[in-house]
Amino acid sequence: MKLDNEKIIQILKDHEGRFVSGEVISQEVGITRAAIWKRIAALKDLGYVVDARQNMGYRLMRSPDILTPSEIQYRLGTKIVGKEVRYYPVLESTNAEAFRLASSGAADGLVVITDHQTGGKGRLNRTWFSFRRQSISLSVVLRPKIVPYLATMLTYMTGIALYEAIYAQTAIKPSLKWPNDILMRGKKVAGVLCELNTETDIVNFAVIGMGVNLNVRKKRFPEEIREASTSLYEETKKRLKRVAFVKELLRQLDYWYSVFLRDGGDSRILAEWKERSQIVGQNVRIRSFEEEIVGKVVDVDSYGALMIETEDDKKKRVIAGDLETVVIAEE
Ligand code: BTN
Repeated sequence: MKLDNEKIIQILKDHEGRFVSGEVISQEVGITRAAIWKRIAALKDLGYVVDARQNMGYRLMRSPDILTPSEIQYRLGTKIVGKEVRYYPVLESTNAEAFRLASSGAADGLVVITDHQTGGKGRLNRTWFSFRRQSISLSVVLRPKIVPYLATMLTYMTGIALYEAIYAQTAIKPSLKWPNDILMRGKKVAGVLCELNTETDIVNFAVIGMGVNLNVRKKRFPEEIREASTSLYEETKKRLKRVAFVKELLRQLDYWYSVFLRDGGDSRILAEWKERSQIVGQNVRIRSFEEEIVGKVVDVDSYGALMIETEDDKKKRVIAGDLETVVIAEE
């Protein structure tokens, strides 16, 4: 059941640019015309620009760029991802909140989104820096019926969705860096953190967290990550609308999740990820559990592990680690 405010926003949006009478809203929402007047005043406080005229009713002139369900879900058109959206002005971590909600039964596709994270988590227990209203921080609960080893493909699937959303919004193709980074001009613009609740042979649920440096100015990044980081703003010199970006991202995720479910995860997703990462054939240096591996990537297997041919002609399989350098020149 939608809240009254959400219903009013939806009606106004459906008539965007045209007047809709108080009478019509009153009938559809089931509250008095006086109550509507009060709620419209509250919407104005949120940043909605509404023209209110006697005998004509209300006309929505502009919606604010806020991450509420009313904005994100309006004509979203997804099948699973974003069927429920929870917005919070501040959270420690959207992944932590989504994990908590999933543990108490939240449905496949629930989105948790915030304006600001105070304790964002990165991969390998690192800190992820978010900036109030400048970053996108969101997590999605997914409940695919898969064996745990296939969960790496959820990270790859999300990388593809981020790649496509960034391309659609900026007309610039980013690149995918193993295992979970999205880069522009070699600098990190977004990251994925997939956390799981599993039993030995089944995934109960996955929480996929996405952090995107949207409108962050370079000088705002802490010094230790400034040179290695970028944002969509820095790459385009344009401020992007948060709602438009999030809707594009959720639509992409919904599409790629349907591909994942149809294919069982390890064929098409892997192939699409490989194509966008162009990792096969690259010469790399990887730090994996205190070991340094240097060699050429010959393949990525269905566990998401890199198959490396080392300089002394040995084959190594690397399941986790940090890809430190791409060693360029090869004779
Ligand atoms: C990484 O690159 O190491 C992964 C970064 C993932 C950050 C996102 S922001 C939303 C979600 N909530 C978190 O605490 N982390 C992820």
